[in-house]
Amino acid sequence: MISRPESHSPSNPDVAIVGAGIIGLAVARRLALGGLRVAVIERGRPAQEATQAAAGMLCPRLEYGGETELDPQSVAALGLTSLSLYPEFAASLEDETNIDVDLRLNGVISPEDSDANSPKEGEGYRVISREEACEIVPGLHPDLEAIRFYPEEGSVDNRRVAAALIESCRRLGVDIRCDCGVRSVLTSTSRVCGLETERGTIETRLVVNTAGAWASEISGSGSSIEIRPIKGQMLCLEQGTSPQERVEHTIYSHHAYIVPRSDGRIVIGTTVEDRGFDKSVDDEAVAGLRDGAARMVPTLARARLQDAWAGLRPLGVDERPVIGPAGHDGHFVAVGHYRNGILLTPVTAELLAAEILRTN
Ligand code: GLY
Repeated sequence: MISRPESHSPSNPDVAIVGAGIIGLAVARRLALGGLRVAVIERGRPAQEATQAAAGMLCPRLEYGGETELDPQSVAALGLTSLSLYPEFAASLEDETNIDVDLRLNGVISPEDSDANSPKEGEGYRVISREEACEIVPGLHPDLEAIRFYPEEGSVDNRRVAAALIESCRRLGVDIRCDCGVRSVLTSTSRVCGLETERGTIETRLVVNTAGAWASEISGSGSSIEIRPIKGQMLCLEQGTSPQERVEHTIYSHHAYIVPRSDGRIVIGTTVEDRGFDKSVDDEAVAGLRDGAARMVPTLARARLQDAWAGLRPLGVDERPVIGPAGHDGHFVAVGHYRNGILLTPVTAELLAAEILRTN
């Protein structure tokens, strides 16, 4: 469980961040470290939407295989930069909070035939023999071929990262206000002057929209933010103890992905569904995902099902995140992270904080 944050900061912050998902919390922490008084305004509870639903894969080459990482403007390059920031980001959070975020950059297996979106050979992976693959994952399906190993990629426990961010924010005096929906950004002569919320007005000169799939619902910023929710159903299985059942590495195919946790769970994802804000879970999708996982590790067909859930990815225009100023002076966004909000958290926090602290 994520702990309930306390509220203890002055009512007029330097900056108000809308949405206490992983991106909003990481930006809040970074700005608080930079000396600003920060409030995070959350319509429900912190980190309960896409942040808790995600698998926590840190796989930029697999997720952005169609993009060239050599183009510094590409999302692939952004993903790789964020991956490179993860060890320091995780270590500093762990030092501050004593929460182990289960960062494992021990490599990712991808037993997938080539497809149009694959990175070129040499771009961060090598093709390995079945024998080598079985040393990495002993229970791998015997018929799998064309197995690639991405040695620098892996996963993090996104729920633990969120818990650590909440704790870090609490220690830094960030005011996290829960159950407080934001209606609009208030402006005066084209400059942000506050937020109108369900619980009254907050005066502030800086607003950051990190509201995930709900980002478009906040009006008045002088910019149009086009984000829509894309549902992903997920499940988690209990990790077995025999060598054939143990999985310590992320395994990724287009049928399903398998992400192990050090607490004994194995997270499996996911569907990609355009169904508005529906978060229902259906047995057929769960069975399909489990089948996809069992095609890679057959023992997962009989592992105990612990839980199943759905989350809403925030999809923006061209599947690209937008990070920076938008609309009226003092208004910033970090939106549209779609399938890679967890991966892109450190780089988003660094880029946005640098921009805000430089100009304000
Ligand atoms: N990160 C993969 C997904 O959203 O399913």
